[in-house]
Amino acid sequence: MEIKQIGVIGAGQMGSGIAQVAAQAGYSVVMMDASDSQLDKGIERIQKNLDRSVEKGRISVEKKVEILERIGTTSKIEVVAADSDIVIEAIIENIKVKSEVFRELDVHCPSHTILASNTSSLPITEIAAVTKRPEKVIGMHFMNPVPVMKLVEVIRGLATSDDVFHTVHDLAVQMGKQPVEVQDFPGFVSNRVLMPMINEAIYTVYEGVATPEAVDQVMKLGMNHPMGPLTLADFIGLDTCLYIMETLYEGFADSKYRPCPLLRKYVKAGWLGRKSGRGFYVYE
Ligand code: NAI
Repeated sequence: MEIKQIGVIGAGQMGSGIAQVAAQAGYSVVMMDASDSQLDKGIERIQKNLDRSVEKGRISVEKKVEILERIGTTSKIEVVAADSDIVIEAIIENIKVKSEVFRELDVHCPSHTILASNTSSLPITEIAAVTKRPEKVIGMHFMNPVPVMKLVEVIRGLATSDDVFHTVHDLAVQMGKQPVEVQDFPGFVSNRVLMPMINEAIYTVYEGVATPEAVDQVMKLGMNHPMGPLTLADFIGLDTCLYIMETLYEGFADSKYRPCPLLRKYVKAGWLGRKSGRGFYVYE
């Protein structure tokens, strides 16, 4: 199936990144967000990234303008749905809110449109079940920051067709990424392995074993991780980390995935990491 237009729902850190790489790959993009200020911020983020690429000589000024011209914005889901061959959803990690968006997309999109979710951990099969096209629903899990990170986990729901899988696999390649196929289980592979490590790092702070700085240093200097787990948690967003831990905890019904109470406390306080200016660290 040929993809010409890509719809992106959510203009946050992930949605704006997905819109950018899609436009860079030559696709026409429509990005939607429920909040106008988030749409503005999303476009600003893309502009800054492209400016940096121009400064580094990776792209010309003309190319930058061309890429930006390929990205339209809207606050209406119907506008994204109208002509998109695939819609990639990147909104808040919450099954109820995502299901509602998929229900609406299913009503407004043409019958050939593929519906993909950038969810970090939620079941694709369950999201697909709210639509009348479960064979066209799939997980397309990009990593943060999208323009930099190579991996896309491509998640097959129970009903996802081979055609749709291959189309999305090839699309990821066209977008300059390396797709890896995984099956639909909580956290897929990336977050099933990563998030319990982050949660455990938070437990070590919670129990007074070490400061956040010390925990991050241990993992950087001792394990050669490019970024410590708490810096990474702040970068991902602590709300997203908590949602993922909840999904693992519920999905496997196993106490080893219990979210650390300190993580809950930070999220309740609105300390969401880098995006809110404060998490385990303070950001200007
Ligand atoms: P974010 O908080 O930066 O952005 C979410 C955006 O969705 C916001 O702009 C918000 O206004 C918008 N939104 C919320 N409900 C909406 C609705 N009903 N309709 C339209 N827009 C709506 O979050 P972020 O970090 O971009 O995460 C988005 C998704 O990507 C989540 O599912 C997350 O799990 C996943 N993800 C996040 C990664 C990360 O490192 N932050 C990495 C990979 C996946």
